[in-house]
Amino acid sequence: MLVSVSRKEHFNAAHRLYNKEWTDEKNTAVFGKCSNPNYHGHNYELIVTLVGEPDPQTGYVFDMKELSDLVRAHVLVHFDHKNLNLDTPYFRDLNPTAENIAVVIWRILRQRIDPKFELKVKLYETERNFVEYPAAR
Ligand code: NI
Repeated sequence: MLVSVSRKEHFNAAHRLYNKEWTDEKNTAVFGKCSNPNYHGHNYELIVTLVGEPDPQTGYVFDMKELSDLVRAHVLVHFDHKNLNLDTPYFRDLNPTAENIAVVIWRILRQRIDPKFELKVKLYETERNFVEYPAAR
């Protein structure tokens, strides 16, 4: 009896999409406003989902307070109100697209959550654009 449980969190962050192998012209052509050299911000909505069996004693798959605390302590502390390119170590050599941010967040959380739970990360960069890792099939 597998059940998925999700926690929604929020962070604001700045980034610049940029491939250092390319000229400024090519970066602007490919990434548009997202390649603005002076950075720009997004209001990210992060949805972390765990899939597992409800515990027979609590009826919970996972304590949502504990999940929220994990996300805060290991993701939001590093990402919220930060410049993802400059203030975090994760995007020194990795373009901070929503795709790559989702994968980074998944990797951070994966090592802190019991492997018996399946872990999924959904990240909204805007109300209309969002990504999911691992990919929904
Ligand atoms: Ni952007």
